[in-house]
Amino acid sequence: MKKIQWDDCLSLGVKRVDDQHRHMVGLVNELIDNLHQGKGEEIVRPLLGKLREYTVYHFHDEEAFMEELRYPERHEHQQEHKRLVDQVKQYQRDIYEHRTVAPVALLSFLKDWLLDHILKMDMQIGAFVREKEAQKGVADSGQGKDFTSSEKKNDG
Ligand SMILES: [Fe+2]
Repeated sequence: MKKIQWDDCLSLGVKRVDDQHRHMVGLVNELIDNLHQGKGEEIVRPLLGKLREYTVYHFHDEEAFMEELRYPERHEHQQEHKRLVDQVKQYQRDIYEHRTVAPVALLSFLKDWLLDHILKMDMQIGAFVREKEAQKGVADSGQGKDFTSSEKKNDG
């Protein structure tokens, strides 16, 4: 399995989210490395647990960020996060109940989901932030709208 190569096309331009995505990509790559080295389940399983924990943390933070922004698609986006968490829970249940879960299958599912989600859904948050900033820029540079400062001068 190929490792994920981080490049600018994965970046939203929002540092808070990008840093977390980069960390997740790092965890996925660490797992891929371990699988390639033929490491046993005793190493792979806790790493998967770590990745799942971080994913949950990241989703909470990204959802809080979307809430702060009043991002209009946040509910659909949240549903998609929930879909992944449910799927991962199902994998964990399978493991717990001793059904065979190939780490390669789980990892390739996570990797595909992560790339697809960043490129399709998360990217739109970045576009929304830029749009908001552009609107704010236009409002801030509006001329003759700042009545308060001239009124203050007259107050003496
Ligand atoms: Fe997301």
